[in-house]
Amino acid sequence: MTSFAVLISGRGTNMAAIARAVARGKLDARLKFVASDNPGAAGLDIARKMGFPAEMLDYGKEGRRGAEQQLALLCSRNNVEWIVLAGFMRLLSPEFVAARRGRIVNIHPSLLPSFPGRDGIGDAWRYGVKITGVTVHLVDEGVDSGPILAQKAVPVRPCDTLESLEKRIHRAEHGLYWKTLAGLFSGVPASERS
Ligand code: GAR
Repeated sequence: MTSFAVLISGRGTNMAAIARAVARGKLDARLKFVASDNPGAAGLDIARKMGFPAEMLDYGKEGRRGAEQQLALLCSRNNVEWIVLAGFMRLLSPEFVAARRGRIVNIHPSLLPSFPGRDGIGDAWRYGVKITGVTVHLVDEGVDSGPILAQKAVPVRPCDTLESLEKRIHRAEHGLYWKTLAGLFSGVPASERS
C-alpha cells in the first residue's frame, strides 16, 4: 500500500479531509505523519486527535536546509513515497524537489495558472473573475506551478462575499484532493482522472 506524508502550515482542513478519507477506507493508502513548519498550526492538533503522528519542521532554528534534511529523514524512516502539500506555505528547495520529482503534490485555491501565490482566492475575487476554482498539481521548482492533475471550477455568484466564496472553494478542495490522490496512488493515468 502507498505511504504518504502531509505538510501543513495552518488550519489543516485539507489534511483533515484527506485523513478522514484514509480513516474511512476511501483513500487506500497509509498516512505516515503530518508535519508543519509552524508550531502553532491548528492542523497538528487535529492530526494528533485523529491518531496520526504530528511532526515539527524547525525552519526557525535550522533554516530551510536543516528543516528539509529533517523532512527527508522522516520520509526515509517512514518509507514515504509521496509528499502531499496541504496549505504548506514554504517553497521547497530545487534540490529537494528534484530528488522527488513527480512525487510531491499540491493543492491551490484557484484555476492555475491564474492567481498563484499566498492569496489565490482573494486575488481572483479582487480581479472580478466570474469563475474560479481549485487545482491539484505536481510540484516543480516554481510557485504553484507544475503539471496539473485535476481542477474543479467554482462559479462566483452575484450574491457572493469573499467569505461565502472562500467557503465553497474550501468545500471543493476537500472533495477534490483525496479523490485525485486516490487516482494518483493507484496509478490511474491523468487523462482518465476527473
Ligand atoms: C487551502 O485553501 C490551500 O489551497 C491553500 O492554503 C489553504 C490551506 O487551508 N494553499 C495555497 O494557497 C498554496 N499556494 P487548510 O490549512 O485549511 O487546508
